Amino acid sequence: MANREQEILRRRTFAIISHPDAGKTTLTEKLLLYGGAIHQAGSVKSRKAKTYAVSDWMEIEKQRGISVTSSVMNFDYDGYHINILDTPGHQDFSEDAYRTLVAADSAVMLLDGAKGVEEQTKKLFHVCKMRGIPIFTFVNKLDRVCKKPFDLLSELEQTLGINSYPVTWPVGVDGVFKGVYNRALKRLELFETGGDHGAQKLTSYTLELSDSKLKEIIGDEAYLALQEDISLLDEAGETFDMERILAGQLTPVFFGSAMTNFGVQQFLEDFIKMAPAPGNRNTDKGPVKPEDEGFSGFIFKIQANMDPKHRDRLAFIRICSGQYEKGMNVYNTRLGKQIRLAQPQQFLAQDRSAVEDACAGDIIGVFDSGIFHLGDTLCGEKEAFKFDPIPMFPAEHFAEVSAKDTNKRKQFQKGIEQLLVEGAIQVFKSNSYGVDKYIVGVAGALQLDVLSYRMLGEYGVEMRIEPLAFQYARWITPEDAEPELPQYFSETLRVTDHLNRPVVLFENQWVMQRAEEKNPKVKFLDIAP
Ligand code: G4P
Repeated sequence: MANREQEILRRRTFAIISHPDAGKTTLTEKLLLYGGAIHQAGSVKSRKAKTYAVSDWMEIEKQRGISVTSSVMNFDYDGYHINILDTPGHQDFSEDAYRTLVAADSAVMLLDGAKGVEEQTKKLFHVCKMRGIPIFTFVNKLDRVCKKPFDLLSELEQTLGINSYPVTWPVGVDGVFKGVYNRALKRLELFETGGDHGAQKLTSYTLELSDSKLKEIIGDEAYLALQEDISLLDEAGETFDMERILAGQLTPVFFGSAMTNFGVQQFLEDFIKMAPAPGNRNTDKGPVKPEDEGFSGFIFKIQANMDPKHRDRLAFIRICSGQYEKGMNVYNTRLGKQIRLAQPQQFLAQDRSAVEDACAGDIIGVFDSGIFHLGDTLCGEKEAFKFDPIPMFPAEHFAEVSAKDTNKRKQFQKGIEQLLVEGAIQVFKSNSYGVDKYIVGVAGALQLDVLSYRMLGEYGVEMRIEPLAFQYARWITPEDAEPELPQYFSETLRVTDHLNRPVVLFENQWVMQRAEEKNPKVKFLDIAP
């Protein structure tokens, strides 16, 4: 790596957050297309299996072995090195989606222009906000009838509590748009129908708002609307403030259509300039700077291989400082020993390739026979430290689990423990009449099926999984608090997490609010530190 500091400055590591069907796969693909990482739309396989049954979905995963294609992708564009982290969605929504945000330096929030802010986006936004990472909004599907742009901006403010600065603005009227206009660059990009399902790039024009040619191109009505809108934005809208953007308080907004390409290139070009390069990361010994000499990183994702014939897993490392070099040893702080990073891989669209060198901001995947835990810090032995732990994010599906065959208790415990350290499940214990019961929590319901599938396949344990009606887990602080809970036993349950911290499970929001009202001195946290 010639000049490491320059290499770090050109890194952009981000995740796309969205609700299923907003167009994340399509946008990712178009970004890769512009970056030259792929040459045809349709190359990135979506992990979605809308029409499949769960068993089919798992069969697909199994056949694909470790499916890395959609986990992390990188490409170069205009001198920048871009790492896109995939946030699982659809049926496979899991805690990984939240954890990926811990490894990202910024997020692209993708909205369907006709639907606005949807449920899954809200949840992921909440995590970005908590981490204070910059959020860039792309309003998609503008080739269709969409909500009015000003309504979308108010929705961002009202639903998510974030102010916005439109960088591009739709050209058109009544939710029917012809293209987008870039306010700073004075660039018009027109939406052109036809073509090969949007597989080709579009051309654009640079025109002042006052240029009569602009009027000619877009027509009188659209021209008038654009003039009015832009002057309203200039006068009454937010001002562009890079500091607020980087602090995650102001989101730059772009409009476009991933499918037909329009607005995508404008977005990419502005986004890479505004988005931050890798920054400092906190540890128990103070911040680590990306340009620090020594190698450091943490494991933010462990991907299991669904194929029982190949037990190896992939552990994903976010590099935070120093440089990865082929064949290097690193110190695992939790284990207190040196580990050789086996066959590190980087991923380029559908291919993976051996990593030659990588620096802060990059993600590498290493084959793991089961030694890594989620959140493990890898660094130099002499100045060993630990990165801030990866929080536990809200699970929304809970089930009491046990082995059908009580003789398999040992394998059951081993399996549950292993899946816990991989981050596949959260594990809680409840004690009733002196008997410990295991309760698992997952972010997406499919994960419960994955649990039963993996326990049988990998540990030979047939599971009894009894879904519980709880939807919310809240960690209590201070930990020694004895909150008075609503007396509807079936609607709340006191449990402890794997670190023995007290947690209350709630069946619905109403009971949870009652509990909060009754215990004003107790904090009920949805994300455990
Ligand atoms: P996801 O990964 O966020 O779930 O979304 P994905 O990209 O798979 O897109 C979901 C659907 O929305 C797809 O249609 C896709 O073609 C469509 N889509 C994405 N971007 C745009 C856009 O800019 N405009 C319009 N009109 N549609 C868009 P599908 O019918 O589910 O699949 P397909 O048959 O098109 O592949």
